[in-house]
Amino acid sequence: MSRKRSLSGIKPTGMPHLGNYLGMIRPAVDLQETHDAFYFIADLHSLTSTHDPAMLREHGYDITAIFLAFGLDPARSVFWRQSDVPEVTELTWVLSCVTSMGMLERAHAWKAAKDRGDEGSEPHGLFAYPVLMAADILLYDSDVVPVGKDQIQHVEMTRDMAEKVNRIFGDGTLKLPRALVREEVQTIIGTDGRKMSKSYGNTIPVFLPAKKLRKAIMKIETDSKELEDVKDPDTCNVVTLYRLFGMPDEVAEMEANYRAGGYGYGHAKQALFEAMDRHLAGPRERFLAFRKDEDTLEDILRDGEARAREVALPILERVRTATGIGRPR
Ligand code: TRP
Repeated sequence: MSRKRSLSGIKPTGMPHLGNYLGMIRPAVDLQETHDAFYFIADLHSLTSTHDPAMLREHGYDITAIFLAFGLDPARSVFWRQSDVPEVTELTWVLSCVTSMGMLERAHAWKAAKDRGDEGSEPHGLFAYPVLMAADILLYDSDVVPVGKDQIQHVEMTRDMAEKVNRIFGDGTLKLPRALVREEVQTIIGTDGRKMSKSYGNTIPVFLPAKKLRKAIMKIETDSKELEDVKDPDTCNVVTLYRLFGMPDEVAEMEANYRAGGYGYGHAKQALFEAMDRHLAGPRERFLAFRKDEDTLEDILRDGEARAREVALPILERVRTATGIGRPR
């Protein structure tokens, strides 16, 4: 039986933080074991907000090196740069022609722009963002889309667009995907206890040198209980992160220490630092080695592009035939 296809994209807008890693990169890499894995750098999406060509390219290499460092295997999985398969923009147009303005007006990012009173000056690309994302997914007959919670709405819209195409142009024109969301890693807490997000300035980048990582962890906010006090592991930001990096028996031990008292937040933070450094030191070194060699990264992306296009072309042909565009075949 052939494997189901997992597909996802990540925008090249700076070094990913722990929230990106735990919410998207790690689940995506894990899916290689059971799925036909297709991942790409969403540089066309970044263009809605980034107008710095050098940075766009650099960050694309950063993302590629990060995936490799965390175990993406380019021999098994397909990794490419979105814009290298420009056929995606053709499917975007077809989808645009069946997608109502009303649906796009309900997209979270567009609503936020409206709330700011900015919708008149925002680029059309921001409004059309969900259509390009749907094309990304539908061009490859994707089965599952590993994403963070914030992207569920986009995958739902993708299903709506595919259903509409199938209704108008015939069943089986496009395959309906579903979002794959790992609940346990959904709300990664930042250093201030709010959701980890670049816009709150509370992130911990994935690849900090050990000293800086320790410093960032020591800054995580806790309540003001004293060393000897009994503490609640279920409301502590340090424990929340420890659950994602510590071994199960280590986590159980920390929870017991909290409940017993006589165990301070400094101890917990030190344990968290050790677990994270153990987990991230190897990938950090591999990242630096991969990142130095842009020719090899480019070779991997080129190979990914060829394999991605091989899958995409027959699907696009199906859409052309169903809709009546292009020369008859
Ligand atoms: N919009 C996604 C994000 O901001 C990135 C993305 C673009 C994506 N195209 C995609 C994710 C297709 C999954 C599938 O995180």
